[in-house]
Amino acid sequence: MDNYLSGDTLKKYYVTTPIYYVNDVPHIGHAFTSLFADVMARWHRLNNEDVFFLTGTDEHGKKIEKAAAKSGKNPKDFVDQMSESFKQLCKTLNISNDCFIRTTDSRHKKIVKDIIQQVAKSGDIYKGVYSGWYCVPDETYWIESQLVDGKCPSCSRVVEKISEESYFFKLSNYQDKLLKFYKEHPEFIQPENRKQEIINRVQQGLHDLSITRSTFNWGIEFPLDKKHVVYVWFDALLSYVSAFSSEKNRQKHWPPDLQVMAKEILWFHSVIWPAMLMSMKKKLPEAIFAHGWLTVDGRKMSKSVGNVVDPFEMAEKYSADAIRFFLFRDISLEDDGDFSEKHLVERVNTELIDNYCNLFYRITSFIVRNYQGIPTPSKFSKNENELIRNLNKTASAVENHFKTNRPDKALTDVLKLSSELNKYFQELKPWEDPNTAKAKTGLYVAANVLNSITHMLLPFAPVTLQRAQKILNAKMNWKDITTFELEPKQKISAKILMEKLEFKEIIVPKLIAGNIKSVSEHPNADKLYVLEVDIGAESRQIVAALKSYYTPGQLKNRTVIVVANLEPSIIRSVESQGMLLACENGVLLETKAIVGTKGSDCMKKINYKKFSEFNLRVEKGKLTLDGKLVMFGNQQAYPERKVVDGTRVM
Ligand code: MSP
Repeated sequence: MDNYLSGDTLKKYYVTTPIYYVNDVPHIGHAFTSLFADVMARWHRLNNEDVFFLTGTDEHGKKIEKAAAKSGKNPKDFVDQMSESFKQLCKTLNISNDCFIRTTDSRHKKIVKDIIQQVAKSGDIYKGVYSGWYCVPDETYWIESQLVDGKCPSCSRVVEKISEESYFFKLSNYQDKLLKFYKEHPEFIQPENRKQEIINRVQQGLHDLSITRSTFNWGIEFPLDKKHVVYVWFDALLSYVSAFSSEKNRQKHWPPDLQVMAKEILWFHSVIWPAMLMSMKKKLPEAIFAHGWLTVDGRKMSKSVGNVVDPFEMAEKYSADAIRFFLFRDISLEDDGDFSEKHLVERVNTELIDNYCNLFYRITSFIVRNYQGIPTPSKFSKNENELIRNLNKTASAVENHFKTNRPDKALTDVLKLSSELNKYFQELKPWEDPNTAKAKTGLYVAANVLNSITHMLLPFAPVTLQRAQKILNAKMNWKDITTFELEPKQKISAKILMEKLEFKEIIVPKLIAGNIKSVSEHPNADKLYVLEVDIGAESRQIVAALKSYYTPGQLKNRTVIVVANLEPSIIRSVESQGMLLACENGVLLETKAIVGTKGSDCMKKINYKKFSEFNLRVEKGKLTLDGKLVMFGNQQAYPERKVVDGTRVM
């Protein structure tokens, strides 16, 4: 296996995730992409390569500016706060990134400005007027003919008409060069099933790209004209260049070996990004891989459906290793895939714990109980030779899957080998007489194949597998993956690696920070208001008995706490889609959290009777559930006026 380029220079490997928008907190989709890059980085490190793994956050643009304004924060404070949650996600999921780039870093801003000067020098930037449509959530320009029913063709949301002076990047210059490049580098766009669509679109012709905006300020100043800021995508893609702390490091690692993302941003990475690099006269990435989308219980993840999966919550409930293992075992990187908590528990229990962890315990504990360390083997029989053949076959298939960016396929193969080892051990029946040459030889071989499997599984459940490495007292490089490194008499220990997971659906009220947008009289009741409350991705109509306590003016624009998983009910012929938390004496609960931030989550709908059984109270001036402080991001909720400790909230 070729670990080295020449002499003792380590082969380099540069892998990136997209840099994520900070308008909202991370969800399981972001986690999936970062884990994909992480699994790749870990395997390449195992293969003794000099890995540079980049992730980060995309912090400019109209979408972020709007989100900051909505939360009542200035953009810089807002992005500082939001970027932290993406950093935290890396820690929680054991993402082994070497750099976390933020587009508000001064190093990044400087590089963007320098590169724009350079691209301008090569004659690829000109001034014109942009007239067309803009999708703010996607930060994407569209021409009229691309719209579908007047909406964004990518996300189906409303687009804004724009007509403004702008600087353009001559993307149209690169049509032929790109088509030639795709032809000469068939592995550039991956997986294969997404490639042809891009090529077809490029063949239809490329429009020049508007790369500046002058109607808002939250962006990097355009160095050729201070009235403009740089278009957020032109800015963001350059984070792959600005990630390096020195020119020397950049030269060492350039170009990216693998850039991962989901399918909706493949166009930017496979067309705009390579054209930018051609203009900059820089080498193009080796491969761009666009995986599918994660749905949840069969539906697109969305705040309004209320099925957005929180990776922090999943990691706390089931462990970061369990999430990672499940995703690569269950989701094919080629297609869309479904995230289901129940399925996660089943997969991890049967395929990581039953198939591998239990086998690990059976083999290691048998050795510890019966021998002084690894037993000494005699001649191998047909069964041992066959197992070793399978080991060699699996190792080369796994290596090939990693080299073609398919860790999902690699995991399937490793688990198959683990099943074969289970079968081998079962047929060996060493417990009938541990002291026979057959049993000793069998355990020597089983322990060594187990060691190889342990190392092959390392990227897919690193915490558990590092524990396994310690128990086996072994640490291998990929080039030795099929070598029997556990030698006769070598001491090992035995421990249970992972306890079985239990599927627990915890039913709690789903509490979300919401802003009261309007207050109107209830048409049929004296004591009720009908409120329109913004809870982030959607608005809820809520009927509230607050008229005896608050005037409309006192309610409007207040950020309060919405119970968002109550079954809708009709109150005097007006539908109410939730309720606001208030103390039993009518004092409302409020918060400084960003609108849409959750204090607790639950996908199950509950009725009012169930809701009234929860123990929500004010303790030390703050909202608690079962005595535990409810946190909305890094903010708490509190009564709008002082109330005594222990006051019930409903
Ligand atoms: N900021 C841009 C990327 C700039 S890269 C120079 C952006 N950010 S994003 O926050 O919207 O992240 C998009 C990426 O997050 C997707 O391409 C994918 O990697 C990941 N995912 C977001 N939702 C996802 C799913 N539902 N399923 C799988 N991945 C998802 O676009």
